[in-house]
Amino acid sequence: KANTYDDVIKQILAVVDGEPSATARYASAACLLSEAFDYYFWTGFYVVDPLNKQELVVGPYQGTLGCLRIPFGRGVCGTSAQSLKTQRIDDVHKFPGHIACDSRSNSEIVVPVLHHGLLAAVLDVDSTEFASFDSIDQEKLEFLCEVLLEGAMQH
Ligand code: SME
Repeated sequence: KANTYDDVIKQILAVVDGEPSATARYASAACLLSEAFDYYFWTGFYVVDPLNKQELVVGPYQGTLGCLRIPFGRGVCGTSAQSLKTQRIDDVHKFPGHIACDSRSNSEIVVPVLHHGLLAAVLDVDSTEFASFDSIDQEKLEFLCEVLLEGAMQH
């Protein structure tokens, strides 16, 4: 799994190299990640709404229909946005305030994406299995999110 992550992250960074649009970077990452791992059921980004910086709005994703907006502090994504910390949740049904966009999701990892030190988005990956995400998923996705917006100039 670690090798697959290394390969797909390399591929993502090669595809987005020189691309100023953050949206294009998010879309390419969501596509390639969801293709690389069978247990990725929903893969995408919630971006900080430029008109309301206390709310996330859905961005590029692969999967079933996602909720459109998530206030900071709500659910797994809102908790990650507020705390600026990765949330790795083995059973989302036990997470207080979890937002069920699709009842088939059972575990989830959410990683903050910073740009010039400010929160730009969160990467959200959901799985239909319980406890799908381990420390390898976390370490590799955190690395991707650290570098994904390097060189991005616009949202
Ligand atoms: N379950 C997430 C909401 C996003 S969807 O799963 C796509 C949450 O609690 O933040």
